[in-house]
Amino acid sequence: MRFHPGWRLKAILPVAIVLLAGLAAFEVVTLELEASERFQLLGVAAGGALAVCAVLLVALAALIQRPLLELSKKIEQVSQGDLYARVSFSDRDDDIGRLGRNFNDMVRQLRDGRDELQRIHQTQMSRAEHLATLGELAAGLAHEVRNPLSGIAGAVDILARDLPATSSSRPIVSEVQHEVRRIQGILNELLDYARPKPFDIRPADLNITIEHTVQLARQHIASRPIDVRFEPSPIPPVAHDPLQVQRLILNLLLNAFQAIKDKDGLVTVDVQTVDGFAQVRVRDNGSGISPDHLRNIFRPFFTTKRRGTGLGLSLSRRIVEQHGGTIDVRSSQDIGTEFVVRLPLAAAALETAGVIRHGKDQSPDR
Ligand SMILES: Nc1ncnc2c1ncn2[C@@H]1O[C@H](COP(=O)(O)OP(=O)(O)O)[C@@H](O)[C@H]1O
Ligand SMILES: [Mg+2]
Repeated sequence: MRFHPGWRLKAILPVAIVLLAGLAAFEVVTLELEASERFQLLGVAAGGALAVCAVLLVALAALIQRPLLELSKKIEQVSQGDLYARVSFSDRDDDIGRLGRNFNDMVRQLRDGRDELQRIHQTQMSRAEHLATLGELAAGLAHEVRNPLSGIAGAVDILARDLPATSSSRPIVSEVQHEVRRIQGILNELLDYARPKPFDIRPADLNITIEHTVQLARQHIASRPIDVRFEPSPIPPVAHDPLQVQRLILNLLLNAFQAIKDKDGLVTVDVQTVDGFAQVRVRDNGSGISPDHLRNIFRPFFTTKRRGTGLGLSLSRRIVEQHGGTIDVRSSQDIGTEFVVRLPLAAAALETAGVIRHGKDQSPDR
């Protein structure tokens, strides 16, 4: 048991002062008495005073110190994770008892919260495992389908080549070719999503990566009236995997082109440094995204397009997260959409990269 002189002294001091005052009064009142009688009386009074102090100390120890020590022991237990700790003085009918009840209530609430969190965690874990198994299954299936499909694509190409120019089957064969390419595209995207390649993150010029991507994207517009502007700015080297960032920005640009219908399109891509991040914005004046859809656009397989896969944005988000960055979106219907990607400028990104390379070493190869 530790000794706490502070509160004891404070409790005893007023009593001692009263007793001393009593002694002084005693001096005055007993001035007339014989010295030996006075001495005797003084002894008795001092003894009484000591007894009062002792009783007071014992009472204080029992009423205050013991519960406080118990409380500090229980707090220690709680901080070590024992949420079944309870104090025994909670049924006392005073302030100390109320303190005890509050403490017990608080610990019970903490315990309920922890149990609830554990329950949610377990549900999510088993859901994640389930999804991972499904993902593996889908990826395996895609892998199996891809080879025979290439065979079919090759055979149809030969058929198309050998078909007379006037044959009525020509449109059908070309439709088959088109659809086969589409299925191949979906399978490739699905495999990319399910079995990502290891990232190769290293400091490089982000302006160059983005400029290449913009040039690549321009080839997808063909003759549509869309103006794609690129606004670079001098920034320090950014730790990134150029190929992956290219895929990420290309996804955003293709979505932007697809969102522009029946009007002259303007798509702007700019690069800046903001708050220790390299920021890339992709803005379009397309159809915008309804608030209802906005909640879901990063979910795998969410698409509003007849021929969409719904994998572009979820893949993009994963690329951003692998770089330790963030992706945000703002959109107004009929006005346009803005995606803001932020990648860390400093050493943190390289650290993340180390973790990623390390993590990926253990993942299965495609
Ligand atoms: N720039 C944009 N403008 C309007 N809608 C967009 C834009 N980018 C994404 N979206 C919406 O988000 C959905 C999901 O996009 P994505 O994951 O790339 O899949 P997909 O393009 O195959 O539909 C799209 O179907 C579309 O509804
Ligand atoms: Mg897309």
